[in-house]
Amino acid sequence: MYAEWHESYKIGIIRIDQQHRKLFGFLHKIYESMLKKEDHEARETLLDELVAFAKEHFAEEERYMKEYEYPGSTDHIQEHVHIIEEINEFYKSGLVREDMKSLLDFLVGWINNHMAETDSKLGAFLSEKGVR
Ligand SMILES: [Fe+2]
Ligand SMILES: [Fe+2]
Repeated sequence: MYAEWHESYKIGIIRIDQQHRKLFGFLHKIYESMLKKEDHEARETLLDELVAFAKEHFAEEERYMKEYEYPGSTDHIQEHVHIIEEINEFYKSGLVREDMKSLLDFLVGWINNHMAETDSKLGAFLSEKGVR
């Protein structure tokens, strides 16, 4: 298993945790598609879905930040912008086709770090505010 969701990844906000779990689901599907050596169209379709969902997910977190006037929102949003830019670079460079493994490594690393650090802080803040 390459990118398996784990209970310990929870940040304590139900909707956000559900979405993180779904992001892992996408990563796992892409990985499986790679293992089965499916053609790159299949992987690109999955990747497109992941990116679309990641954008929705970021927007959702950003809505929470705005609603509760989260003090760390500028840096957090900057990280969201950065991940989308990185993924776009993979598309532009053609690496999506040649080297999906690198992209997956990047995504898994990024999602793990961002979730563990940046999203956790937001989760703690929202929990304090009584969000569940
Ligand atoms: Fe985030
Ligand atoms: Fe997140």
